Amino acid sequence: TVIVLDFGGQYNQLIARRVRECNVYCEIYSYKTDIEKIKEIQPKGIIFTGGPNSVYLEDSPTYTKEIFELGIPVLGICYGAQLMMHLLGGQVGTAPVREYGKIEVTVEQSSKMFENVSEKTICWMSHNDYIAKEAPGFEIIAHTSDCPVAAVQNPGKNLYAVQFHPEVLHTQEGKKMLSNFVYNVCECSGDWKMDSFVEESIKAIQEKVGDGKVLCALSGGVDSSVAAVMLSKAVGNQLTCVFVDHGLLRKNEGDEVEAVFGPAGPYNLNFIRVNAQERFYEKLKGVEEPEEKRKIIGEEFIRVFEEEAKKIGTVDFLVQGTIYPDVVESGVGGESTVIKSHHNVGGLPDYVDFKEIIEPLRDLFKDEVRKAGLELGIPDYLVFRQPFPGPGLGIRIIGEVTAEKVEMVQEADAIWREEIANAGLDKEIGQYFAALTNMRSVGVMGDERTYDYAVALRAVTTTDFMTAESAEIPWDVIGKVTSRIVNEVKHVNRVMYDCTGKPPATIEFE
Ligand code: XMP
Repeated sequence: TVIVLDFGGQYNQLIARRVRECNVYCEIYSYKTDIEKIKEIQPKGIIFTGGPNSVYLEDSPTYTKEIFELGIPVLGICYGAQLMMHLLGGQVGTAPVREYGKIEVTVEQSSKMFENVSEKTICWMSHNDYIAKEAPGFEIIAHTSDCPVAAVQNPGKNLYAVQFHPEVLHTQEGKKMLSNFVYNVCECSGDWKMDSFVEESIKAIQEKVGDGKVLCALSGGVDSSVAAVMLSKAVGNQLTCVFVDHGLLRKNEGDEVEAVFGPAGPYNLNFIRVNAQERFYEKLKGVEEPEEKRKIIGEEFIRVFEEEAKKIGTVDFLVQGTIYPDVVESGVGGESTVIKSHHNVGGLPDYVDFKEIIEPLRDLFKDEVRKAGLELGIPDYLVFRQPFPGPGLGIRIIGEVTAEKVEMVQEADAIWREEIANAGLDKEIGQYFAALTNMRSVGVMGDERTYDYAVALRAVTTTDFMTAESAEIPWDVIGKVTSRIVNEVKHVNRVMYDCTGKPPATIEFE
């Protein structure tokens, strides 16, 4: 086992997952875990994660120095690297030049960590602080043009620290570095295999549910579809799926979902559609603040389910298709800071009527959810649908949501998606959609002055949705979409393309 000690970074589950990809079992523990517990586990290696704090501030997460004296290899990443240096007598301070994004790292000398890694290698950086001076006994093994200490080692003690993020795919040789750490430094054997997740989950669900009644929140998106089909395999007729059309879905989506999952489709889900559009619009009237919008939509969802549940009779369990990135970004996945409170996560009011919530996909990343979906026999076109957030178009309309704005963004989005597919780009782009900015500006149409809205087009490439880059869309596609949108969508007179990556932006606008 390798353990990841969580200091509050955004990529911690990703580190664990990369280690599991090396066929080495890996678990995450909070930095608050007692060292005695770690001694008990006897891990072959320990990885300190990144985190948002500064090691030299008083209240920042820290750990006892004793951890470096157990003879267990330790790798510090970002904050974890700075913490290792700080605890062992090095110096950490505010970096004169902050580094964000892909940065060229120069490997200075051979190291077990960098075996078969190129001398110049692109790594993902995201830090405000830096290691000003390495701790005694350490040697610098890599630098960048702005960061003299990009990586250090003390091979005698098996201690390694890197300022960049090897777990993120943008670090081109990151997998190699992590595999070097677990094999060359920790000497793991690599014989662990991910058991059939689907099979185990189905068994676990059957045990948990017994002959109880289960209600599933089905949105038609990949996550909830996989969760629903998994539940239906596990408990069959005990399951009822409720699909709430909250009026914030993409164009025609409600009918499409009903066609697949309803009684006319191939699944036996006891499918119920609730048309709750007006209710949601009413609640959202005058609300502009993103977190407030998210909370309102999430809560209203729960209320609608409760009402449905009452009609069905007693319901024991509520199923949700929460996946790991939702958990971590909502700040309930260990130590990380809240970025957004994701729909259906953590935001449950305490007077919810269900005995228990079942979240069978809570530890998975999107691509792992897709794999589970294929294993469940769900057709490709559903499994590879692009993700759509629970709060739907509610968070793609900046500012107040109204029925008119929903229609604008639906129309613009449908055009954008249609043309992306026509250009054959839909397979290579991770996620693409239109959003309605809250900006109005002056234009001219015919001989008339207009004062209308601006639509933002977004398209990103990503593998795990934790980081993303703006996709390079051919200009002729953007041109065509722009002219279609301003011509076909009423009250839109301007179209913009969002060039921002994640970080610093998020994929959605709110
Ligand atoms: P962000 O905007 O956080 O999005 O970069 C990352 C991925 O998560 C999706 N997303 C959500 N999914 N409920 C969901 O089920 C939500 O509240 C939510 N917010 C964002 C987003 O579409 C992207 O794929």
